[in-house]
Amino acid sequence: MRPRPAAQRDQRGAARRYAARPARRPYAGAVRQLQLYDAVGGMPYFEALVARFYQGVAEDPVLRPLYPEPELAGAQRRLTLFLVQYWGGPTTYSDERGHPALRMRHAPFAIGGVERDRWLVQMRAAIDASGAPDDAKARLHDYVSMAAEAMRNRPDETAFRTP
Ligand code: HEM
Repeated sequence: MRPRPAAQRDQRGAARRYAARPARRPYAGAVRQLQLYDAVGGMPYFEALVARFYQGVAEDPVLRPLYPEPELAGAQRRLTLFLVQYWGGPTTYSDERGHPALRMRHAPFAIGGVERDRWLVQMRAAIDASGAPDDAKARLHDYVSMAAEAMRNRPDETAFRTP
């Protein structure tokens, strides 16, 4: 069999290792994340948070047209499970979807500054309305600000080219 290019091999290997890792395997930084998942109340907290977020998305004229499916239920479930896993809960997201590779999964959607900001408006409102303790809310706010900026895949300005 012809060897696959190194980049591809590494990526597949990483995805397999990630998906195969035991749930809640300790790793650097996990303790704080486990504390947050438990401190906010686990799965029901994230289900309610993301349900509220998607109520906002459903009525958002910038965000709603970006979602390809007529129903938002699938996207809602995927984001819930992703956040649960990120903050130290069960790894159902990766069991079902493999490596999150979120930047790659967002590549089909044009996300510029406007889209990022609308996403953050809806997510910040959902966090603020949730019953999490203040320090957990602060950490969630920090995280989503960073993550939303990381998902931006278009420059803010329209490209201007001289012939
Ligand atoms: C910044 C603006 C963002 C926009 C406009 C956006 C939009 C979208 C769209 C259109 C989808 C496809 C819906 C679907 O899965 O059916 C999606 C999927 C998803 N997004 Fe975002 N997103 C943004 C940021 C983020 C951030 C910051 C996160 C994580 C913190 C995130 C997590 C996810 C996840 C987990 C999925 C499902 C991926 C999968 O297929 O497994 N998104 N997003």
